[in-house]
Amino acid sequence: MWNKLTLQNIIREKMGDYSLIVASNRQPFSHIMKAGKMVCQREPGGLVTALHPVMQAAQQGTWIAAGTSEYDRKSVDAQHKVMIPPENPSYALRRIFLSKEERDGYYYGYCNEGLWPLSHVAYTRPTFLSSDWQTYEKVNRKFADAILEEIGNRKAFVWIQDFHLVLVAKYLREAGASNIITSIFWHIPWPNPEIFRICPQKKEILEGFLAYDLVGFQIRHHFDNFLACVDQELESRIDREKTSVIYQSRETLIRSFPISVDFEAISNQASSTDGKIRADRIKDELELGDKKLLVGVDRIDYTKGIPEKLRALDHFLGKYPVYKEKFIFFQLGQISRLRIPRYKQLNDEINALVEEINWKHSQGSWAPIVFKRSYMPYQDILALYRIADGCLVSSLHDGMNLVAKEFVAARSDLDGTLILSQFTGTARELTNALLVNPYDPDAFADLILQVFEMSQEEKAKRMQKMREVVAQQNIYRWAGKVLSQLLKFEFQEA
Ligand code: G6P
Repeated sequence: MWNKLTLQNIIREKMGDYSLIVASNRQPFSHIMKAGKMVCQREPGGLVTALHPVMQAAQQGTWIAAGTSEYDRKSVDAQHKVMIPPENPSYALRRIFLSKEERDGYYYGYCNEGLWPLSHVAYTRPTFLSSDWQTYEKVNRKFADAILEEIGNRKAFVWIQDFHLVLVAKYLREAGASNIITSIFWHIPWPNPEIFRICPQKKEILEGFLAYDLVGFQIRHHFDNFLACVDQELESRIDREKTSVIYQSRETLIRSFPISVDFEAISNQASSTDGKIRADRIKDELELGDKKLLVGVDRIDYTKGIPEKLRALDHFLGKYPVYKEKFIFFQLGQISRLRIPRYKQLNDEINALVEEINWKHSQGSWAPIVFKRSYMPYQDILALYRIADGCLVSSLHDGMNLVAKEFVAARSDLDGTLILSQFTGTARELTNALLVNPYDPDAFADLILQVFEMSQEEKAKRMQKMREVVAQQNIYRWAGKVLSQLLKFEFQEA
């Protein structure tokens, strides 16, 4: 089985004098002021969950990402760098600072009002402004410049993450960088040609992709969609044997690599003494007593199906009122992209729903839903998974969904049930979860009932099978597969 050491050995043996540069919009750690003290805290989102352990294993890498606050600026050195994580510094985070206008046009505008809704089937209409596109180009150039500066004359493997930075490889090539191997991993779904064709910059985006040596998607279905879009929009040659595209005489390999989590680290932390202390504290804070606990952990995003999950709980309580006062549903909602009207609207909708459902079903001091929006340390989130009877993942569309994999990794006690949306990439691997269609509140409610009524034996059997999958397909294997493609060595099951 692949682990941190296997990956380290591969990097040492095969990467030779290549240095590793990862770039993403979202930084893995941010600096904030807490009670008059500057602290460094881990950022939410699947990308950070996956890439942080890989960078820790690689040791010699640099992660380039956008810093956001004045404290982020204050904590970097003259090269805009800071070593992280603070308790065990193992790689450099190099921050890029964007102006307000740049963040508006690139991050809020083109990325999150354009590409994000375009890529997810969640019925939010994308908006594409040419001024936002120009800012997207400008910021992608900024990232490319920082990468060039970082590499200098060295050889480098440049690994770009996600939809924010598609154009980087094109700019690196235009600048004449020859000693680099480039790859992009697209963390979100890729749309079919009918959806993609509405994007006014579709040609530039596809050309951006084809400047990489390797393009990775989460699942085969997204990569099939991508090839179908290339076929429709560009004069290129698709080699179906090699699954590559030849465009303007250069070849790009297209692959799927289902992303994952650090199974072993999560499993160990969740069952450690520290994990137990955290779990007991959380139980006290929630005044859980002998009540059951259902949990949800999501960024507050319309693709995550949070209102659908709340409506399913409402439905459940209407259908099975004997469960009143018998459980609590705790939802952690990490705020992001709040400047965008659709996200504000979603937050309002969630507030109104929580208020309405709690009012409708409350009895005495009991109300079914506890919705927390404030920051929760990662270790506390793992402890929360460990004490939950059920974890509810209800995405309307999701590239992968690592909350589901984290929950499974945290349950070495083989207890707990996962309700997982059919529309996540993860559902293809975790077939022993209770798979739900979040658009069907009635069926969702019945699955919630199953969480409470399933025999211990059945729960353990399902969890065991899911744990085998996540343990095997862990994040080190994922990174190993990507590197093996790039460095052209044969991938071996460890
Ligand atoms: C998803 C995207 C990531 C992104 C994360 C958090 O997982 O694939 O690229 O960083 O969401 O979103 P945010 O916009 O808050 O960084």
